[in-house]
Amino acid sequence: MSILGKDFICTEDWELNEILRVLALASEMKKDPCNPRWVTALKYKSFLMLFYNPSLRTHMSFETAICELGGTAICRNPEMNWKKSKNGLSSSEALKDIARVISRYVDGVGIRITMDAVSRYGDGHKFIRDFAHFSDVPVIGMADDRVHPCQGLADIMGWSERYSPNGDVDSLKGKTLLLTWGSSGFTRPLASVQSHLLLASKLGMNIKIAYPEGYELDGDVCEQTRKNCKKNNATYEVLHDSNSGYEGAHVVYARNWVTRDAYENGEFQFQKEINRAFSFKDWIVTEEKMKRTEKAIFANPMPIDRGREAEDAVIESEYSVIYDVAENRKHTQKALLSLILGEVK
Ligand code: CP
Repeated sequence: MSILGKDFICTEDWELNEILRVLALASEMKKDPCNPRWVTALKYKSFLMLFYNPSLRTHMSFETAICELGGTAICRNPEMNWKKSKNGLSSSEALKDIARVISRYVDGVGIRITMDAVSRYGDGHKFIRDFAHFSDVPVIGMADDRVHPCQGLADIMGWSERYSPNGDVDSLKGKTLLLTWGSSGFTRPLASVQSHLLLASKLGMNIKIAYPEGYELDGDVCEQTRKNCKKNNATYEVLHDSNSGYEGAHVVYARNWVTRDAYENGEFQFQKEINRAFSFKDWIVTEEKMKRTEKAIFANPMPIDRGREAEDAVIESEYSVIYDVAENRKHTQKALLSLILGEVK
């Protein structure tokens, strides 16, 4: 099985055994970061990161991952590189030319494009797919409006580490994930949530999704999640009550996401989304709610809105994996980059 040269834009594009290979290598790399098998895996290789939106974790974890593999990380604000009209999608230079030229300079490209960098839901994902179509080098999605596959890998690694001493991903099979919407002023895209649904269901977890009516997720993602659950004899349930779903949960994942009405006339409606989210203040993970779970771990891809998405006591509890998962962004991306761009001896 060779992953060399593959794009990583959505976990559904990859076979389960390919994803498991990345996770297994990430685990080895975490235990033994200086092993000669991989410290030069990206020697003489360069990876370009294009961020149309801000980032702390994705930027830092990719940059450090590339450095630790002996490669060169280049980060560019796309606005500095080519003229654009309204947003990142309508540039005066053709996307095919940009992608082809960049491919002549670097060995791989990562792209983040979501929220107010696009004019409507789905355009960010399409942009990355179109870029990859014209690129001669592999493209990694670093979060678009639809999915955030790298975040999915890091979470699965972090959850597995809590349920198995060796971080065995199989330990998640049959466990129940409660993925619950959280009230927040952070106006987060649907990307992380949807990647977690696709990946957790692919790995055989039971799925419960809880959100206030009006915060429906992408129908295609839900349909694929349902199919994955059915294939794995796992359950799939949707709830609209902030107090439900905690019973039987092994992982409680709380995250704000915006509504599908977030765009009006091509503009992202930040204030409208914040006002709407603040009207659902009871959508917060509390210590009391966590007591009804199977001693569930608490997850959130960060940044987390303390006191809105979850109480401080939950975030600081022994069950919280948020920093482990943030750390795992580096390990999983090291494994991904090594297998896609480089060579692990
Ligand atoms: N979770 C995540 O992708 O964080 P950043 O937006 O800081 O990269």
